Amino acid sequence: MEYHFSEFDVIDQSDDIKPAKSHVFSKDTAAITLAFHQGVPGYAPTQLVHLHSLAKEMGIRDILVKDESTRFHLKAFKGLGGSYAMFRILCEKLGLNPETTCFNDLRQESYAEACAEMHFVTATDGNHGKGVSWAAGIFGCQASIFMPAGTVESRRQAIEEAGSGTAVITNLNYDGTVAYAARMAEEKGWILIQDTAWEGYEKYPQWISEGYLTMAQELKEQAGVLKPTHVFLQAGVGSMAGAVLDGLSDIYSDRPPVFSIVEPCAAACFYASVQAGDGRPHSIDGNPETIMAGLNCGTPSKTVWPIIRDQASFFWACDDEITRNGMRKYARPCGDDLPITAGESGAVTLGTAMAVLEHPELRKIYGITKDSVILLINTEGDTDPEDYLKVVGKKPGKG
Ligand SMILES: Cc1ncc(COP(=O)(O)O)c(C=O)c1O
Repeated sequence: MEYHFSEFDVIDQSDDIKPAKSHVFSKDTAAITLAFHQGVPGYAPTQLVHLHSLAKEMGIRDILVKDESTRFHLKAFKGLGGSYAMFRILCEKLGLNPETTCFNDLRQESYAEACAEMHFVTATDGNHGKGVSWAAGIFGCQASIFMPAGTVESRRQAIEEAGSGTAVITNLNYDGTVAYAARMAEEKGWILIQDTAWEGYEKYPQWISEGYLTMAQELKEQAGVLKPTHVFLQAGVGSMAGAVLDGLSDIYSDRPPVFSIVEPCAAACFYASVQAGDGRPHSIDGNPETIMAGLNCGTPSKTVWPIIRDQASFFWACDDEITRNGMRKYARPCGDDLPITAGESGAVTLGTAMAVLEHPELRKIYGITKDSVILLINTEGDTDPEDYLKVVGKKPGKG
């Protein structure tokens, strides 16, 4: 069933979901990933913020926000995936067992020379590249990062400042930039560390997604007995949403939450794929324009597509205004709620959740009650400070 509103479209396929018989991203995998991250310099769990006042105003029990804007001081969650995948690749190349190796083992002098020769390459719309540059820096490796046309210069600079990577803006769209990075890897013998999977390139994106499970692990501890009933996850290629969805449906297997996938309407490739109804992923061509740069991806990742197709109940294609609403609400919250710095790709799920809560018909379709607990991930802070200021009207943290 499809619903059309002025600022968003929604597909409801809640009658057709097929709960997972087994999990690609299990609790066991998540435990290994968390153990790795705990050994990385600067690791600290990100905060789980309760927007109690907003929840009260909306007549539900709670709204939980996993605030990734502070992760590893990178302003986004993406370093989790880049660092874990790089760790696994280095272990593989150096013949080490990842289950008995930690970050410090790889920093021993005996591996320094081999690490220094490793050259990673990736395409990014910003945050993944920053994570790879940072990870290359802490592991003592090299990295080349390519970005699509239209990328703002501050995002390019942030990548170089984060670690040892060099970043270049191409004249290609996101999918074209991914293809270019793959070609460079082949031509130069570099290691492609891409956060999206396709036929024949699946292992490293799988490790990147596994890295994101640390968020679900931390959340389980932080939420305690409070179980989320409705989870909203934003998707670019879906590597984060697929892993977190699968991880959470394993953690909360006794009563899995209702999952929604949220995309910008210009690049809503999951929405379009579900709408096509043939069970296959479909791409959005051209140069889509949206302020949600991290979600501006035209092709679902192969690894996560079946997970999202089968286990998500709702698919959203949102106007940029939805995320602007979310950014402003995070910055100027209700009552005693803590302000959160949320960038364009981070805030869209709050904008979406508010649209559900404010809309009687959607509340009904979603089965919202006074006991509902909504979970959101603020996946980034002000990664584009100029646009943040324009949208929110003040710098982060200012009254
Ligand atoms: C801030 C932010 N949120 C969400 C996403 C979406 O992640 P994925 O591409 O794995 O769907 C990205 C991707 O770059 C991002 O930068």
